[in-house]
Amino acid sequence: MRTLFYNMPGFEALARTIAKKLNIKKGVYQLKRFTNNEAQIVISDDVKNSKCLVLGTNVPPDQRTIELMFLCHTLKKEGAKKISAILPYLAYTRQDRKEAKKSLAMDWFAKTFKISGVSEIITLDIHSQLAQKLFDMPLISLSPAKIFADEIKKISFIDATIIAPDEGAINRCQDVKKYLGIKEPISYFKKKRNGQKISSVFKGKAKRRVILIDDILDTGGTLIVACKELKKLGVHEIIIMVTHGLFTNDNWKELWDLGVKKIYTTDSLPLVARNSHEAGFPDLEVKTRPGISILPIAPIIERHFRK
Ligand code: R5P
Repeated sequence: MRTLFYNMPGFEALARTIAKKLNIKKGVYQLKRFTNNEAQIVISDDVKNSKCLVLGTNVPPDQRTIELMFLCHTLKKEGAKKISAILPYLAYTRQDRKEAKKSLAMDWFAKTFKISGVSEIITLDIHSQLAQKLFDMPLISLSPAKIFADEIKKISFIDATIIAPDEGAINRCQDVKKYLGIKEPISYFKKKRNGQKISSVFKGKAKRRVILIDDILDTGGTLIVACKELKKLGVHEIIIMVTHGLFTNDNWKELWDLGVKKIYTTDSLPLVARNSHEAGFPDLEVKTRPGISILPIAPIIERHFRK
């Protein structure tokens, strides 16, 4: 079956790398806007009976969800046999729990992907298993554990304590430990959110050097609270590893004053210049900060499609 690789704006470099490695032809489409701003997708390829990979994201939803869903819907309408949406950062996974009178956004996305013709979703380090249950199609979450473990070995931090900043992060910490061959029980924080306020209680042991591992660094609130507690325990060197670095607002910068020496994240979202038209993507400035390292995810996605 012929395969075509489409990408949304901002994902050009990642798409080129993956398509080249997998030897897949790039597909071409255009997003047109009518004078009243209504969107229209125009594809340039004949996709009948082909397999289409679509790399992008659904954030921010008002701009990118429509583009993503219309693109998949058009490919389906034109006869594509299988559509795999590759969304390294699948947004809204934090709305995966039924709560009275509150939206359940992940459920809406799951249904909308389905009616747009998507056959499967490939993402990176999904927030929780709950989201997967809402999808009536394969939702495959690839793990960054190996690239984090490789980096820990490279910087000789293997003797540090790996700590989960909340209970939801315990499994991802355990995955990294497996790659490192560390067997000791996991240390973690019991986190409570009360509106914007976060409080965390530490459970376990911490050496003087620690590594905090989480799926998302959004405002940095979770990690700031964890670092403050660790400081009280005498920890003096902290490394942070997060799969999705959103770096929303500037609060996260406080981490540098709390003993954080380095933040590792991945290129699950493109970085763009502040105030550019690519709203919602993290600021390009984070890439140029000496304390931040961006780990490439292309090898993880390639490996998945080679299987
Ligand atoms: C929540 O449970 C997630 O795993 C992250 O810990 C959280 O979303 C990070 O957000 P923030 O950086 O704003 O605390």
